[in-house]
Amino acid sequence: MTLTALSGFWHPLATSDEVTDQPRRFELLDDYVVAFRDENGVAAFRDLCIHRGAALSLGWVRNGNLVCPYHGWQYDRTGACVKIPSRPADAPIPGNARAFAYNVQEKYGLVWVAIDEPRDEIPPFPGDIFEDAAWKSFISYREVWKTSAARAVENFMDFSHFPYVHEGLLGTEDKAEIAPYTVEKRENGLHYWLEQEEPSDLYGAGGVQKVRYEYTLVVPFTIHLKKIELGTGRETFITQFTLPRTSKTTEVFVFIVRNHSHDQPDSKFSDFTNTIMEQDRVVVESQRPEELPDSLREELHIKVPDAASLLYRQRLASLAKVDVFGPYGA
Ligand code: FES
Ligand SMILES: [Fe+2]
Repeated sequence: MTLTALSGFWHPLATSDEVTDQPRRFELLDDYVVAFRDENGVAAFRDLCIHRGAALSLGWVRNGNLVCPYHGWQYDRTGACVKIPSRPADAPIPGNARAFAYNVQEKYGLVWVAIDEPRDEIPPFPGDIFEDAAWKSFISYREVWKTSAARAVENFMDFSHFPYVHEGLLGTEDKAEIAPYTVEKRENGLHYWLEQEEPSDLYGAGGVQKVRYEYTLVVPFTIHLKKIELGTGRETFITQFTLPRTSKTTEVFVFIVRNHSHDQPDSKFSDFTNTIMEQDRVVVESQRPEELPDSLREELHIKVPDAASLLYRQRLASLAKVDVFGPYGA
């Protein structure tokens, strides 16, 4: 899918504490973004000065304005140039002297950026758990993978690799067969679930137990996995927000949000998840091409186990085709 089709979605740029009054460069959709914070919050621009193309991220913030490091032009948080120091103070500033200001918001402790007018909200959690004290959240895993965002998401959606990539942790080879499951199409993504016995004693609930996995995909690149321990009823979200830095490099932010074990250290949960993510990373970085093929005729799809991934590919393909403000496709 083309990168321009993605410019109308919110993307997770960084954690909130990484954006300060010192402008900083980030990578998004094969380009650079500069983000900074003043007393009014976070602002984000294309990391490029309209005058001579210098990187604004080398500049600094003065009185709430971003100062270009080259000739000192100053941009307010809307991107308007408010000062050209080499001109008389009363000389008019051309209206097209502007930085390319992006839409920016903070949510879940992350800074989110949409390059164009956002066509959708910041990816929601199923339920308002993030504001609910019954749930405790932390970022468990964050890495840059040498792959596309779509490959990284499709891997997270896929469970037929459990007996191979996560042997003994999420699956065993004697239970490789996938029973038919239903994928529900939603306006903003997909939803499906399955149940299985998880071979590991992940959360110390006492040996092997049956777990229900509920997957909720929010297009383009957010995937929630809600794990429900059927014995104890405890629930844990493992959520991947995915930043398409370039068409072949992707930063993954994996949150763990749980409604139990608040007294336990987060590391008890992150160790397991991070092991899984690293196992995934090795295989996913080996996939060629790095981007998902544009056509469903490429690669081979097996009807039952690849049902969710097929619908994901179709959805991405339809996003790439429709007008930015058009309806979601099939
Ligand atoms: S390049 Fe930015 S002020 Fe000249
Ligand atoms: Fe995996």
